[in-house]
Amino acid sequence: MTAATHLGGSTGLELLEMGAARVQVDDKKIINCRADLNQLVPFKYQWAWQKYLDACANHWMPNEINMAADVALWKDPNGLTDDERLIIKRNLGFFSTADSLVANNLVLAVYRHITNPECRQYLLRQAFEEALHTHAYQYVIESLGMDEAEVFNMYREVPSVARKAAWSLKYTQSLGDPNFHTGTPENDRRLLRDLIAFYVIFEGIFFYVGFTQVLSMGRRNKMTGTAEQFQYILRDESMHLNFGIDVINQIKIENPHLWTEDFKQEAIHMIREGVELEYTYAVDTMPRGILGLNAEMFRDYLQFIANRRCAQIGLAQQYPGASNPFPWMSEIMDLKKEKNFFETRVIEYQTGGALSWDE
Ligand SMILES: [Fe+2]
Ligand SMILES: [Fe+2]
Repeated sequence: MTAATHLGGSTGLELLEMGAARVQVDDKKIINCRADLNQLVPFKYQWAWQKYLDACANHWMPNEINMAADVALWKDPNGLTDDERLIIKRNLGFFSTADSLVANNLVLAVYRHITNPECRQYLLRQAFEEALHTHAYQYVIESLGMDEAEVFNMYREVPSVARKAAWSLKYTQSLGDPNFHTGTPENDRRLLRDLIAFYVIFEGIFFYVGFTQVLSMGRRNKMTGTAEQFQYILRDESMHLNFGIDVINQIKIENPHLWTEDFKQEAIHMIREGVELEYTYAVDTMPRGILGLNAEMFRDYLQFIANRRCAQIGLAQQYPGASNPFPWMSEIMDLKKEKNFFETRVIEYQTGGALSWDE
């Protein structure tokens, strides 16, 4: 086989074709591309390469964060309330397996179908970051001396956690089939559906109740090591989300026929389902008000985030008037401020400075 003979694009595994024409920028396409995928340059999608460089500049390791204060607080019988403990346990339960689901989706489902080397370079970096995130959760769970089996099994024992995981799996399964190839409108939409499910909803909505809860504890000087881990993770995740949105929008630009009215309605339906699942999770992790937060504030917050997600991929906003009850989170989320956020974090990290909670 000298070129891809199946439907869709190249994979990069094709036999070499001696003396084949050199790759030109205009040959490159984000999906269904037949140009050689093993040559990184010439770049076509500068945004993908830049995100790869930015992600590398933000490198961090979970075991560099001091967990001593968290260990003391967790082991002190009067250190935390039952509600505060529930928040820590439920979120470690959700996140300790969630990043594995994301990594599997990248490596086993998405990577093969993204036919562009600079995007693949970012996907490889993202996959490593997902490994770091799973490492971070494991490190926290081990440091606190938690029942590891209980925490790692939550995604199949606690319904509000399980429902989020189960919701996402059907999208990745649809692509993971070795006989699946892009190249027809129906199959290209399956890929788009998976990208929306994982980047826009899983990483873009399902993480935000937990991030807000744990970062709120950090702002009140509780579980500060855990909160610092989550803050580094959130920095990575906001870049994953933005990369996914760029990929989705690039696919739309190159394949406008995929973005039909029916498909837009389906995407909106997925986002609305995501908001409901995450709201249920908020209620479950926070049966009573705590830390100045309550589940109703999260309904508002999730609707506010969902409006942003809709706008980011060109869909009509679904929740008129939704407002952000956590303006301090917008420092991290707000795209206009994001560049600034990364720049300050990069400097702080490289000089070994501590993260500050009050921005
Ligand atoms: Fe992650
Ligand atoms: Fe991620």
